[in-house]
Amino acid sequence: MITKILLPTDENLNLAAEALRRGELIAMPTETVYGLAANALNEQAVSNIFRAKGRPNDNPLIVHIAHAADANALCHVTADAKLLMEMFWPGPLTLLLKKKPIIPAAVNAGLDTVAIRMPQHTIARELIARSGCPIAAPSANLSGKPSPTSAEHVYDDFQGKIPYIIDGGTCAVGLESTVLHMAEKPYKILRPGGVTLEALREIFPDIALSGSLLSPLQKGERAESPGMLYQHYSPDATVILLKGKIPNIAAYYAERLHEAENIGQHIRMLCFAEHQKFFPAQTCVSIGSIQRREHFAKNLFRLLRALDKEGVDIIYSEVSELDGIGMAIMNRLMRAAAFQVVDTDAVVLNENKQKELS
Ligand code: TXA
Ligand code: MG
Repeated sequence: MITKILLPTDENLNLAAEALRRGELIAMPTETVYGLAANALNEQAVSNIFRAKGRPNDNPLIVHIAHAADANALCHVTADAKLLMEMFWPGPLTLLLKKKPIIPAAVNAGLDTVAIRMPQHTIARELIARSGCPIAAPSANLSGKPSPTSAEHVYDDFQGKIPYIIDGGTCAVGLESTVLHMAEKPYKILRPGGVTLEALREIFPDIALSGSLLSPLQKGERAESPGMLYQHYSPDATVILLKGKIPNIAAYYAERLHEAENIGQHIRMLCFAEHQKFFPAQTCVSIGSIQRREHFAKNLFRLLRALDKEGVDIIYSEVSELDGIGMAIMNRLMRAAAFQVVDTDAVVLNENKQKELS
């Protein structure tokens, strides 16, 4: 099969909508990441999503709709859910609600809830509306890889496997939607994203956070969102996070660079624009200003993919504070790094002690 990247013209949107109606898979842009879309009511089409991605069947999908009112046919919309829809839709907020029988078990892994989202991206909504069906769409990456934030990223993973990729440009948010469990109280964030904890707590102050957002699941702990169980967002390169005072991070990185050069390894440092001066320019990549962490969010997956293409072996990265979009950034970074974080303050302190002793 030849995969075509199509501009979102009237004609091309009709082509893609028809393909969806026929039960084919296509990739569509959203404001968060690109989605691998299929008619959510067609079991065969939905199971093809899992096959194409190499995704385990017990990891349920988000159903995307063009109008908030369309949710009523798919799930039980409570008054509280309606309020959040009015506040945050269209936008990067996915609500988990009790499902209605129309949802095929393939979509939600046979659970009693279904995840619903109305994307902000006008092309996504236009395509969904033209297809006339609710659209199941996980991120359009091979399972485990960083999510795609451009049509080219989708092409890299799915060329020859799907007929069309609608090119809607670079995703504005760059990280997947916030997933909020609303089927029981207290409501709980299962995945942080573009709609922040702070914004949601302005409406419902007792919103909780799932326990494993920033740490691995403990042995025997149940995953509230099956997606959390799986390895995620991993580039081929090893990712290691460096925390601590910036001079200590810089000293630690300088030593790693020295070692890497001796054995012919390629390493890179992702750092805030304000901190670039602390690192050797040729191996350091800016993730944007520390004052504008939405740029970090927007660039993270693109940079992980780009550094893989360059053949980088190890990607070191600064960490973000956890407020606002920082929670979503750290949730993805921690997983990309398989939870490897070096406290450079402790390392440098220890080295200084060793020197004093010797
Ligand atoms: O921004 C997004 O949400 C993107 C775009 C394409 O809309 N989609 C996306 O889908 O990120 P996906 O499949 O990559 O992530 C969906 C997450 C998974 O962690 C999944 O386990 C969780 O939502 N999820 C979906 N339905 C669920 C359910 N019924 N119960 C618990 N978790 C659920
Ligand atoms: Mg995904």
